[in-house]
Amino acid sequence: MTITYIPFGMKSTIALTLVVASGILMFGLSSFQKKPAIDLKASMARGRETYVTYCLSCHMDQGEGIEGVYPPLAKADYLLADKNRAIRQVLYGTSGEMTVNGKKYNLEMTGVDITDQEVSDVMNYILNSFGNKGGTVTPEQVATIRKK
Ligand code: HEC
Repeated sequence: MTITYIPFGMKSTIALTLVVASGILMFGLSSFQKKPAIDLKASMARGRETYVTYCLSCHMDQGEGIEGVYPPLAKADYLLADKNRAIRQVLYGTSGEMTVNGKKYNLEMTGVDITDQEVSDVMNYILNSFGNKGGTVTPEQVATIRKK
């Protein structure tokens, strides 16, 4: 009969080693999973400028739009349902009937000729202003959609 006897000191050394090892592993995983850093505050500040120049005249200062004419961006179910569609609409415009927050709209919006950086900034602004919590957009994502 063999008795496996691990002295107390040894046990805690093993335990400590395991804790340290899993710590290193978790740290490694989290830094691996991290997306490319985006400074949301700075992007939104630039995005506000773009918004004022290219969007505010129709979608209004607080993204409230004009009922039945220009759809809202503030808490807009349509916008928040599909970020990529919104990027395409900013790039290429949009027309045809759409329902936003239960109201119908049927006019035309023309696309704007701005850089990938400006599109991502204005998207970050509208997705995170007016009470929206809609996530972030990088210039790389815009570039991918532009190519399609
Ligand atoms: C000349 C007025 C006008 C301007 C300027 C304008 N839009 Fe629009 N926008 C519209 C109209 C009208 C629609 C709805 C089109 C339809 O009925 O098919 C729309 C739709 C949208 C939608 C989808 C509907 C929604 O509310 O979620 C988004 C997103 C959007 N616009 C974002 C922008 C952004 C961002 C800018 C600035 C880069 C901008 N628009 C500039 C008039 C405008």
